[in-house]
Amino acid sequence: MSALPTVRTIAALRETVGAWRKDGACIGLVPTMGALHEGHLALVRAACAACDRVVATIFVNPAQFGPSEDFQAYPRDEAADAEKLAALGVHLLFAPPVEEVYPPGFATTVTVSGVSDGLCGDHRPGHFDGVATVVSKLLLQALPDRAYFGEKDYQQLQVIKRMVKDLDIPVTIEGVAIVRDPDGLALSSRNLYLSPDERRVAAQLNQVLQAIATAVAAGASGDAEAASGRDALIEAGFESVDYLEVRDAETLAPVDHPEHPARVFAAARIGRTRLIDNMPVPTA
Ligand code: PAJ
Repeated sequence: MSALPTVRTIAALRETVGAWRKDGACIGLVPTMGALHEGHLALVRAACAACDRVVATIFVNPAQFGPSEDFQAYPRDEAADAEKLAALGVHLLFAPPVEEVYPPGFATTVTVSGVSDGLCGDHRPGHFDGVATVVSKLLLQALPDRAYFGEKDYQQLQVIKRMVKDLDIPVTIEGVAIVRDPDGLALSSRNLYLSPDERRVAAQLNQVLQAIATAVAAGASGDAEAASGRDALIEAGFESVDYLEVRDAETLAPVDHPEHPARVFAAARIGRTRLIDNMPVPTA
């Protein structure tokens, strides 16, 4: 059994965090959907290093899953997650039931336009509304000084940064670099769905992004490199490619020959698994 204190109501969360705030503690928040791996734990480590008190949240948010997506099948193992969080020194776990977050009569949606368009926004309608709504709620429930999000979900990170700015939510959003397996595959709770054969194919996603990033840094056209990268992914064994694009790192506007910091973004499918990844175009 983990010794991690766990609360399931907003009132109990506010009581604990409110007492810490009275003591002048700097409070960090790490929102997750559980099934924790080293990618999530990098966020937790960053929070523990910078904050006096750290709250992790585990909530598989139904509002960000489409009707044909894996909400029911999404891996859940709260006991194992709590052990991992406790071992790193997290002070509190907030793991509310769905009714606590979305009680009967719930009727508000937070929509962030611009950065939510394109990429995952086009392929997962309503996804970023679900993310922005739940993250704004979590931030207002806990009122942390800092909140931590991974660059693995780079578009999500930009959506959250925009939302916090636009809604004047008093929190600093910290982005954390992607944690990868030794073969380059970005860690994801959804990697659990991959068969050994699929797992070997999956590693190619990172290789293809790397090749595009290097070529674009050397002056190649992002559009042309992305087009041949799509072919390379299908050749490698991916069934389909949702998108493969070079975009501005801040505005997420498409760019062919970037003059500002840019990133390569991809989402591709193997069997029933959809993988996403992104990486920066190196600058001289
Ligand atoms: P989840 O997919 O559980 O991810 C929680 C956080 O961990 C996100 O900020 C994500 O970017 C980060 N993360 C996941 N894999 C990572 C990796 N390999 N390297 C670095 N960071 C990684 O993202 C969500 O949950 C939800 O949308 C949430 C923000 C909790 C709102 O419901």
